Amino acid sequence: HEEFTKVKNIDVIQLGMHEMETWYFSPLPPEYKDCKKLYFCEYSLHFFKRRSQLLRHLGKCKLRHPPGDEIYRKDNISMFEVDGRKEKQYCQNLCYLAKLFLDHKTLYYDVDLFLFYVLCETDARGAHIVGYFSKEKASEEGYNLACILTLPCYQKKGYGKFLIAFSYELSKLEGKVGTPERPLSDLGRVSYRSYWTRVLMPVLKERAGSVSIKDLSELTCIKPDDIIYTLQHLALVQYQKGQHVLVADPKLLDQHLREAGSWGLQVDPSKIIFTPYD
Ligand code: COA
Ligand code: NA
Repeated sequence: HEEFTKVKNIDVIQLGMHEMETWYFSPLPPEYKDCKKLYFCEYSLHFFKRRSQLLRHLGKCKLRHPPGDEIYRKDNISMFEVDGRKEKQYCQNLCYLAKLFLDHKTLYYDVDLFLFYVLCETDARGAHIVGYFSKEKASEEGYNLACILTLPCYQKKGYGKFLIAFSYELSKLEGKVGTPERPLSDLGRVSYRSYWTRVLMPVLKERAGSVSIKDLSELTCIKPDDIIYTLQHLALVQYQKGQHVLVADPKLLDQHLREAGSWGLQVDPSKIIFTPYD
């Protein structure tokens, strides 16, 4: 329905202390049509065309963190779970913001069906949004993550790795295997492949390769297809005498592990306070 304006509309946003250039088109309401810069409240994510409007809003806005349950806190890092049905406005604002950095055709504005996990860095002023992932409350396809974003000013510091690891920790607490919704962006695919590699290599090494895909999946909550994809990508599955065989040369596993990079900001699962939806 918005086919005529798929060209990037907003050039730059102000969010808290940060100014960021945008990457993609976001289907903002028509009144923002001729606007090049948006001013966001970093707490409520309300956005405005003029700084004066933002300042007036900030004079009234009482929020100092995302409007949801804080389900993780360690040092200055917190995760908030925000229910799209209860906090519709916030979650819609978050989607408008995120779309400026996401190339996906499919961004859901039907936020009711999703939970939003918002990563924040906290200081004396409040909890400042760094990134988030969304998750369907009930996914028939077994998705444990729909959209993921680290805001550009926080990218390449290990937060994306934290968000991916966190999504799997939630799957473990649910006792369910999970997989990210497709399509993945190029950056998304690289990040996932390295997560899967970092998780799988140590298990293969420990079990000297004598472990089934099913066992690996149960241990890690990574979907079997993603395990097979990762192992094939690393050429660790060989077809010998009519059978698929796992290669588990420890030197090779170590090399893949090194190449998969660091863990980034690490999740401490003992700090998660989480009740699975339904
Ligand atoms: N170029 C090349 N590789 C990059 C990269 C870049 N600009 N940014 C991240 N990476 C790779 C690196 O391999 C990095 O691992 P390393 O530190 O071992 O080198 C890995 O991704 C993850 O880095 P991390 O710092 O944890 O990720 P991030 O916080 O920058 O977030 C995304 C990663 C994908 C969430 C982020 O790039 C993003 O929000 N992109 C825009 C939205 C998007 O594409 N979402 C995914 C949709 S599926
Ligand atoms: Na979906």
